[in-house]
Amino acid sequence: MKRLRRLRTSENMRSLVRETTVSKNDLMYPVFVIEGENIKNEVPSMPGIYQYSVDRLDEELDRMVSRGIKSMLIFGIPAHKDEKGSEAYNDRGVTQTAIRHIKEKYPDIILAADVCLCEYTSHGHCGVVCGSYVDNDETVKLLCKMSVSMAKAGADIIAPSDMMDGRVAAIRSALDEKGFINTVIMAYSAKFASAYYGPFREAANSAPQFGDRKSYQMDSANGKEALREIEEDITEGADIVMVKPALAYLDILKEASLTYNMPFAVYNVSGEYSMVKAAAQKGWIDEKRTVLENLTAMKRAGAHIIITYHALDAAKWLEEL
Ligand code: PBG
Ligand code: ZN
Repeated sequence: MKRLRRLRTSENMRSLVRETTVSKNDLMYPVFVIEGENIKNEVPSMPGIYQYSVDRLDEELDRMVSRGIKSMLIFGIPAHKDEKGSEAYNDRGVTQTAIRHIKEKYPDIILAADVCLCEYTSHGHCGVVCGSYVDNDETVKLLCKMSVSMAKAGADIIAPSDMMDGRVAAIRSALDEKGFINTVIMAYSAKFASAYYGPFREAANSAPQFGDRKSYQMDSANGKEALREIEEDITEGADIVMVKPALAYLDILKEASLTYNMPFAVYNVSGEYSMVKAAAQKGWIDEKRTVLENLTAMKRAGAHIIITYHALDAAKWLEEL
């Protein structure tokens, strides 16, 4: 008789036939850096995640390195915001200062800089606002300046998360022109207008002051359009493409990763983190098992890189397996 249960009789047998394993090499850790001094603020909706000022950042970097996490994604929160997000492309800005600091202390860390204007604009939109519309081409010009500024500070990866059209090609030319030929572009290619970003906007002080992001981020109903976005970014020269959020969009990750021979990143976003944390705090789910199950699902669906706030905990749990 055919018995599929034969291969499940013991943990050693199960591990022998296991198809997917998550490693800490796969995990990228998002970090929030805020302008100011002596700041370590826990984000209320994201227990265990903090905003750090640059002078307090070492504590988090040391924790990250000692857990064996080797890549991070940095978000900067400036003290001064204006209509055009000028701190985003100020070489002396908080993000650039943090990047220089990190690279000096840990030159081998792979440092990705999120490139978008929403943390830097007074209105909280991801680009230049014209009436109530975000102007694509004016925004792209600023994203190019921001990317060059981040690369100059020492970022290894530029990660545009704005969803403007044509930004990958424009950023690639801007980087190349300034000699940053080996700076990687990890494009947020299929980024959906999602309710799951709620806690992030508290962490990054970046909630839009009017309207929403639906005229630039994607409609969650659209899978084929997601493939078009991904294809476009590949054509424009992205080195890594991303699907975001993760759990509600694993169908898209799976299809895209089977379609294109590219490294795929997936972003396990703030709301996904907060849901697990809240349920675990109530004792309703087992946090460790839930997180490892979710990360395994992302890997199984085709992710090579998983950007996750759980990275440090997961690295510890993976050691214990
Ligand atoms: C900036 C950006 C956002 C996230 C990553 N980069 C927020 C947004 O688009 O509103 C979300 C990350 C998360 O929720 O963890 N555009
Ligand atoms: Zn944005």
